[in-house]
Amino acid sequence: MKGIILAGGSGTRLYPMTRATSKQLLQVYDKPMIYYPLSVLMSSNIKDILIITTEEDQDGFKRLLGDGSQFGINLEYIIQPSPDGLAQAFILGEEFIGDDSCAMVLGDNIFYGAELSRKLEEARKNADDGYATIFGYQVHDPERFGIMEFDEDKNVVGVEEKPENPKSDYAITGLYFYPKGVSGKAKLVKPSPRGELEITDLNKLYLDEKRLKAELLGEGYTWYDTGTPDSMMEAANMIKSIQKNGDRVICCPERIAHKNNWIDDNELMNSAELMRKNNYGKYLKKVIDKTK
Ligand code: TTP
Repeated sequence: MKGIILAGGSGTRLYPMTRATSKQLLQVYDKPMIYYPLSVLMSSNIKDILIITTEEDQDGFKRLLGDGSQFGINLEYIIQPSPDGLAQAFILGEEFIGDDSCAMVLGDNIFYGAELSRKLEEARKNADDGYATIFGYQVHDPERFGIMEFDEDKNVVGVEEKPENPKSDYAITGLYFYPKGVSGKAKLVKPSPRGELEITDLNKLYLDEKRLKAELLGEGYTWYDTGTPDSMMEAANMIKSIQKNGDRVICCPERIAHKNNWIDDNELMNSAELMRKNNYGKYLKKVIDKTK
């Protein structure tokens, strides 16, 4: 399975912070925002990842993440010339995806939950079986989100953008798993009235074929879309408190890579050395010491 991080966009809600840099390079507590979606893909056991950015920001992402070898993964980069919608990712990434299934996560989405890996594995299995999977998160203001309706077998029976009378309180989050052939499907999507290739329209194509499933992130999960100063701050406070002010680090790509045996102790030590002056580096060192 391949993975895509969609990290372009215009980030206007974060102006002036995003006038000179990409939103996804800004920090959320102790790491760049893109580390969070990256760890979701790595936790899904995905090693081949395409990062889609604006032209101006691509160099910054390459400086930060390089070819991915420090995390034991392969990173590729491609430019989205203008923010023409989430479903465009699969057209831009057609060659990269090839004949594989593909997961996509938005560069400003943060997911956390003890059982998340199990849900990700389930979505991967669905993709192997020819089903797409979207992830629902319970919200108290569903009229502000794309909402999913589903039956007891977790088959999605409806998706609605910002409904006045929502049929459920599960928002559709920025994480999507598709079976092989998603690029061909994305090409069938027509631009919406706002001129974008909407992911909702892509999901509706799977829904029409009864090939859309839901994984629900209920109690015990946290999801943030860090597109505004307030949500960035809330997410940062949440991360800080889960990390107990530095005793541990969550959504840590080096840790996931080491756990998956994609990097060895020496490679992890290189990263720990680089960050030895802070809690992140100290945490990595602790990970090595614990496995000895
Ligand atoms: P949004 O938050 O909807 O848009 P934005 O990032 O441009 O921000 P703003 O509304 O403040 O101007 O995008 C969600 C995520 O998807 C975000 O990580 C950027 C990314 N994105 C793209 O990479 N390309 C696109 O065409 C769109 C629409 C979004």
